[in-house]
Amino acid sequence: MDDRPILDGHRMSGGDSARLYLDGHEYLNFGGCNYLALSQRPELRHAAQNALDRGCAFSQYLVRAYGGSYEHFDAVEREAALFWGTESAVYLPSGFHIGFAAMAALEPLCDVIVLDEMAHWCMSDAAALSGKPVRKFAHCDPDALAAELDALDADARPLVATDGAFATTGELPPLNRYMPLIEDRDGQLLVDESHSAGVVGDTGRGAAQHFGIEGRVHVGATLSKGLCGQGAVYTGSATAIERSRTAHALRGSNPGSPISAAVSATALRLVRENPDLCGALRKKAQYLRIALRRQDLEIADTPASIVAFSRGSFGEMRALQQHLFDAGIYVLHSNYIAAGPSGTIRLTVFADHSTADLDRFVEEVGQFFAATDPSGRQAMA
Ligand SMILES: Cc1ncc(COP(=O)(O)O)c(C=O)c1O
Repeated sequence: MDDRPILDGHRMSGGDSARLYLDGHEYLNFGGCNYLALSQRPELRHAAQNALDRGCAFSQYLVRAYGGSYEHFDAVEREAALFWGTESAVYLPSGFHIGFAAMAALEPLCDVIVLDEMAHWCMSDAAALSGKPVRKFAHCDPDALAAELDALDADARPLVATDGAFATTGELPPLNRYMPLIEDRDGQLLVDESHSAGVVGDTGRGAAQHFGIEGRVHVGATLSKGLCGQGAVYTGSATAIERSRTAHALRGSNPGSPISAAVSATALRLVRENPDLCGALRKKAQYLRIALRRQDLEIADTPASIVAFSRGSFGEMRALQQHLFDAGIYVLHSNYIAAGPSGTIRLTVFADHSTADLDRFVEEVGQFFAATDPSGRQAMA
């Protein structure tokens, strides 16, 4: 079986949410992460154009540790602090820097790092390089976390790190159950809200908002998913943010593009001023979940805009992806973190999907399973 990505050799152009263009042909798209479909919004296009027109450089050619900073970096940091209600924030060139920024910020407050076993690599790689002992607990399991914390030395203060919504499945960890366990140990909870920012929580502040534990949690998020920009932010107190700026990964790398910072600042403001965007998207994703469950598919509940399922073997999942592709629909057959041996059909519901788009997808999935399972009943994976 050919297990190369289905997009191998195709030229992508234009389209970055509900529509994707491959070799000039339009596809109905369920892959990628521009959840709120903000990238075509005039406010964001204008922000980039305006920065260019005002002579903005493509990069800051001097690391920020030497003191100078472009206005666009200050703007995105101000907007991130406003969005998450923190004293301060730091702009990072990519979401992969979140773990490094956070672990430097929280260094004096913890003795051991305790990771969800499926935490994004930006956490596990930074933890491995932190110089602290690292332990893992079973995915999304508060009992496993409790057992792991109980096994620590009595005075060891844990830093527990997890994604706010997991990239492949969209599931949320039960942060409300983690929090008391961690606070009992004088520990800290770090949440990577990359896939939840802009979608989850009443005003899109992510899983910590969803579970009502904001203000007790340390938050970082990429800007390249729901918020459609590029780069990331880590938020916190002024002192913590100053410490994060000393991390080698920040001190020793370019701060990112000021044009991306200008676009990301605008996206954060747009969502802060229009929180209804988040609720509307969650509703669309729920519509798709319910429709797919009517096809006897097992779909996890989550307020994220990710809808995921796996049924049958890797080959069957790949055949479904090919069937959809031949019908002009692109979906991801993911082999990413937590995808499992068969891989996962990982769907993004975008804010610009119409109900007809979602119905068309469900109908194609139904046709595939009807053809591959003549009994009309499909066995669950
Ligand atoms: C949970 C999570 N954190 C961080 C990142 C890295 O973000 P970026 O693409 O901005 O480097 C990703 C990227 O896929 C992610 O899924």
